[in-house]
Amino acid sequence: MKAAVFHKPGDISYDTVEDPRIEDAGDVILKVTSTAICGSDLHILDGGIPQASDMIVGHEFMGIVEEVGPGVKRLNRGDRVVVPFPIACGHCFFCIHNSPVNCENSNHEHYGPNGDLLDQKGGALFGYTDLYGGYSGGQAQYVRVPYADVNPRLVPDNLTDDQVLFLTDIFPTGWSAIDWAQMKGGETVAIFGSGPVGLMAQKAAWLNGASRVIAVDPLEYRLERARTVNKVETVNPHEVDAIEYIRQATGGRGADVCVDAVGFEAERSFFDKVKATINFEKGTIKVIDACFKAVRRNGTVSIVGVYGTPFDNFPLHRMFDKGITIKQGQAPVTNYIDHLIELVKSEKVVLNDIISHRLPLSQVSHAYDIFKNKEEDCVKVVLNPWE
Ligand SMILES: NC(=O)c1ccc[n+]([C@@H]2O[C@H](COP(=O)([O-])OP(=O)(O)OC[C@H]3O[C@@H](n4cnc5c(N)ncnc54)[C@H](O)[C@@H]3O)[C@@H](O)[C@H]2O)c1
Ligand SMILES: [Zn+2]
Ligand SMILES: [Zn+2]
Repeated sequence: MKAAVFHKPGDISYDTVEDPRIEDAGDVILKVTSTAICGSDLHILDGGIPQASDMIVGHEFMGIVEEVGPGVKRLNRGDRVVVPFPIACGHCFFCIHNSPVNCENSNHEHYGPNGDLLDQKGGALFGYTDLYGGYSGGQAQYVRVPYADVNPRLVPDNLTDDQVLFLTDIFPTGWSAIDWAQMKGGETVAIFGSGPVGLMAQKAAWLNGASRVIAVDPLEYRLERARTVNKVETVNPHEVDAIEYIRQATGGRGADVCVDAVGFEAERSFFDKVKATINFEKGTIKVIDACFKAVRRNGTVSIVGVYGTPFDNFPLHRMFDKGITIKQGQAPVTNYIDHLIELVKSEKVVLNDIISHRLPLSQVSHAYDIFKNKEEDCVKVVLNPWE
């Protein structure tokens, strides 16, 4: 079959590889009909999250069940499903306690309580390095889906792939960021990063009763997309002091909720880069600090942008003095996905309006280039594995 294979930092190519096969009784083999590139895939491409050997990447995908393992009860050949990006067994301590991303069974070699840089991660993720389980990903014509009775969800025939694909990751991720703040209605929500995840958090903020949603991003074309599809206020930090803007918009207090939908690879100054090199840090925590500054006292900061290393000078003082609640981590997709499918079905939300590019998987290297470098006004790329 054909697949997108990571070889080394900067090198993801369209290759011919072996077809996946059933390895455990609970597996299905999925024929992938649509797949997408996530901001998280860029961390592998950049080498920020290390992978030593070749790997099929991709954790946002959907398709049709092609082959069913002997232990699978809920799915049949021909079923059309979306697949959440975390791989969860459904019956361990964490799965039972609504924390599928911390599944104790899916990441056989690198699971542990440390949560460290080079070992002891949480549960497995599709196509996301050996540290996260070593499972092949879904930027491919076929993919093996373990624990098939637990994670995949059937999708209605009348909805197109584009309408439901983002239930695998970015809509539940944006939803998590907002749900973690337990809003009551009427809140001002400031969202840093207006990429795919930030755009989904904007949708979730409206759906959870925000009265004002402010999007912050240095890329004007992404702010334009946010204004057009989500009707939010936008702030470009290259033009306006975003923290001052948010404070002024809230009577000097700050936003009730701030979301970091950027992560450690935020835009950086030369000084930031030198400091990171000296401290053996990857990237920067400048967006976390901006969220701490922009949130009101006793407010909530949700961090869905990824951070992979420890950081010196973490603004603990600001967090303590203001009494900020922080919630962060990989999104527990399976906790939310059934509710979110209903929102799509009942047309309370539209997800496909963020797609800027539809490309054949054969152009995957180009697709990564434009998404990573923010060229051609790229916001979100959907790939067809059969072209
Ligand atoms: N927690 C999870 O489960 C989960 C799931 C999906 C993605 N993610 C992470 O979410 C983050 C965003 O993903 P994405 O797909 O939207 O990526 P993306 O790279 O397309 O978007 C990031 C956006 O942040 C903007 N940005 C850069 N520096 C900024 C700054 N200082 N202030 C405000 N905006 C800034 C960029 O211009 C860009 O538009 C990534 O770190 C990704 O790994 C996490
Ligand atoms: Zn992702
Ligand atoms: Zn589990």
